[in-house]
Amino acid sequence: MLLPVLRRFLRPYRRDVLIVVVLQFVQTLAALSLPSLNADIINDGVVVGDIGYILRVGGVMLLISGVQVACAIGAVYLGARAAMSVGRDLRHAVFSRVQRFSVAEASRFGAPSLITRSTNDVQQVQMVTLMTFTIIVMAPIMMVGGVIMALRQDVGLSALLLVVVPLLLGLMGLIATRMGPLFRLIQERIDRINRVMREQITGVRVIRAFNRQESERERFARANTELFDTSLRVGYFMALMFPTVMLIMNASSVAVVWFGAGRIDSGAMEVGSLVAFLNYLMQILMSVLMASMMFMLVPRASVSAERIDAVLATEPGIVRPAQPRELPAGRAVIELDGASFGFEGAAEPVLHDISLRLEPGRTTAVIGSTGAGKTTLVNLLPRLIDPTAGAVRAAGIDVRELDPAELRARISLVPQRAYLFSGTIASTLRFSRPEATDEELWAALDAAQASEFVRELGLDARVEQGGSNFSGGQRQRLAIARALLKPADLYVFDDSFSALDYATDARLRAGLPTATAGAAVLIVAQRVATIRDADEIVVLDEGRVVGRGTHGELMASNETYQEIVLSQLSVQEAA
Ligand code: UTP
Ligand code: MG
Repeated sequence: MLLPVLRRFLRPYRRDVLIVVVLQFVQTLAALSLPSLNADIINDGVVVGDIGYILRVGGVMLLISGVQVACAIGAVYLGARAAMSVGRDLRHAVFSRVQRFSVAEASRFGAPSLITRSTNDVQQVQMVTLMTFTIIVMAPIMMVGGVIMALRQDVGLSALLLVVVPLLLGLMGLIATRMGPLFRLIQERIDRINRVMREQITGVRVIRAFNRQESERERFARANTELFDTSLRVGYFMALMFPTVMLIMNASSVAVVWFGAGRIDSGAMEVGSLVAFLNYLMQILMSVLMASMMFMLVPRASVSAERIDAVLATEPGIVRPAQPRELPAGRAVIELDGASFGFEGAAEPVLHDISLRLEPGRTTAVIGSTGAGKTTLVNLLPRLIDPTAGAVRAAGIDVRELDPAELRARISLVPQRAYLFSGTIASTLRFSRPEATDEELWAALDAAQASEFVRELGLDARVEQGGSNFSGGQRQRLAIARALLKPADLYVFDDSFSALDYATDARLRAGLPTATAGAAVLIVAQRVATIRDADEIVVLDEGRVVGRGTHGELMASNETYQEIVLSQLSVQEAA
């Protein structure tokens, strides 16, 4: 998987890559020529005592070294730049792909894994790219060149290479194949650490409230130890690698000197050639070592590339059609037409054959017990999910034929879990309409019954991530204000009044027709008081519509509704 990913992401930098390869080639040739020149100095300068020759050849060697240094600097600079660019582009690709995911795709991977994939996994690929450009491209050139140069120095001694090189390659291959599977495990365990960490940070209050610190600490320790164990096993193999290489290198030097001495003694070889041969042997073994670093890095990067590619290859379930139809100007009526929905892999659908018409100027309410499918129904409207059967229409057009952005511009939603983005109160509210003036902000806050506490804090008061420095009720009101600020054809409130007391709830609802300027309103609630004035109330039970009508009509005829009302009345009366 590594190669296709790299090929795709290196394409914009192929000119740099080409230059890197050329520079590394020149650099390696320079490195290979030095021991030969050194041998010449010894054989024809030192042995004969020709100082002029020594200086001349020495000067050439200095020059070649200069070229080598210049090439190395250029190659590392360009290689590092290309590798880092690949990392940046990969992160960007993962991020923008994840942004287009619908809830279903995002939950398939899970947030912690998506974070690991866009950080740690990208880093692995970036690392292997960097290593390839800075050292590994040299390996094959150096190995082939080294063998040729060694043969030129002394054919007889070169027979040693036939033993040493395959031995080293074999050992490295053996170690690398044992390490490969461990790398996949490491990435998975990093995922797990992220998951546990995330859960503990977001759930810290629950953990403290139930005194679960000890067991949570254990859970983290377990995940941590598992990562440690796997990393340690990888470490053992890596630790084994270098001594193995050193042993083989030094043993083969001994062999070279041993056999070389005999050959010099018999006059078959010159002293300088022995020195050069030793140098070439080292260069060859170094290149084998570099190649084997590939064995260490590539398996891990392949696993990472696979994990990144899995994200990039996932098509968002909800996409903009190639030829989206336009919504007509004016207010659109949004309706569900026999819509059903089932979660992937679930046996029972969550919603069965729901029909609902949301017209301008009318307030529709959906009431039902927890798990009845209310939020699922709400998610269908702005196309956060698509129905598995039936359709959602806006102005009579199936929403799957529309640009989701255009549809969403027409709907303003207060989600059940009010999420506020970090910043100031003003910036949080302007999230829905950046150009809103301060007066408009205050009008929305007034309508959301939030101006009282905001006046005390000021519009520039800080909002922490998720709105965590506000009470549940304050958060809900800010989310309502944010939604009211956006002009829309349909306003949806998913259980948004639950944290408000009855009086505030009533005042807020009384102001809604003005605040929404006569748009359609959908209120989802569990509390009868919140919805009793609605023009139409839809009673939802286990994903089915079991009654619809006004409060009076339902009270007269609908058993489920009566039950809900009675259960809540008795609670109120008791209070
Ligand atoms: P809903 O989230 O639509 O219920 O889930 P609701 O009516 O809004 O409930 P409250 O009042 O907010 O508590 C409906 C069903 O869908 C399933 C659950 O099993 C639930 O019973 N569900 C929901 C999933 O399977 N996966 C999800 O991600 C969400
Ligand atoms: Mg809900």
